[in-house]
Amino acid sequence: MRFKKFNHGTIERNVTLLFVLSLLVVTVGGIVEIAPLFYVQNTIEKVDGVRPYTPLELAGRDIYIREGCYACHSQMIRPFRDEIERYGHYSLAAESMYDHPFQWGSKRTGPDLARVGGRYSDEWHVQHLKDPRSVVPESIMPAYAFLAEKELNTRNIAASLKANRAAGVPYTDEDIEKAAVDIRIQADPNADTEDLLRRYPKAQVRAFDGDPTKLTEMDALVAYLQMLGTLVDFSTYVQAEENERGAR
Ligand code: HEC
Repeated sequence: MRFKKFNHGTIERNVTLLFVLSLLVVTVGGIVEIAPLFYVQNTIEKVDGVRPYTPLELAGRDIYIREGCYACHSQMIRPFRDEIERYGHYSLAAESMYDHPFQWGSKRTGPDLARVGGRYSDEWHVQHLKDPRSVVPESIMPAYAFLAEKELNTRNIAASLKANRAAGVPYTDEDIEKAAVDIRIQADPNADTEDLLRRYPKAQVRAFDGDPTKLTEMDALVAYLQMLGTLVDFSTYVQAEENERGAR
């Protein structure tokens, strides 16, 4: 055979040649993987319903991060049958596209929270956060009772929206201007929230901690927990996926 001289044995016995050729293979593979990413705007598929957090939800998210809830809770449902049966539809990339930083996590001392929104009542959450063992006797979760007493700091909320905008979240000038008002009225069942709902569809409005007279950190955290995983309507999402498959 003509090519006998350049069979694999030759390469394997010559360290320099093996190294140079390996490098070449890895380089070509790397370019093929990386180059397309320079030509696409976004690798995240757009999904109907996903919107930036309302100021109150964003403040709740900050408390979630401050208290280290992520150390025990993930927010990423993997596409395995056992996870889907327990937690619901697997997480979509778009559902955390406005999270800076994301809260996927990798530690599950407690359950995944990606779709905890609407699973329990506000009263349950408040009671559970104040004293976890009063509702789940075997729980090892720490108590966060002080959140119900602590008034929510709303002074920096416009700056917080601005910082998120710098990271790519599409907050409008109007959203930033009205942030200090928005954060209050979402927890006030008597407020006029038409404008809030126009800018943040599906935002839930009520006194989350049960006390409409005081805006507390509990309000913000429960507002955040109650919206997790609720933005995408999976009855229509699954349909769209199947239509696409049918068209192919
Ligand atoms: C030391 C670990 C730990 C920390 C920190 C922790 N949790 Fe938990 N959490 C658990 C465990 C364990 C459970 C399951 C038992 C229970 O329901 O209390 C749980 C349950 C929950 C549930 C109910 C989930 C479900 O589907 O039943 C919610 C909601 C929750 N935690 C929210 C929070 C929030 C918000 C924080 C931060 C303020 C937090 N957790 C901090 C361990 C933790």
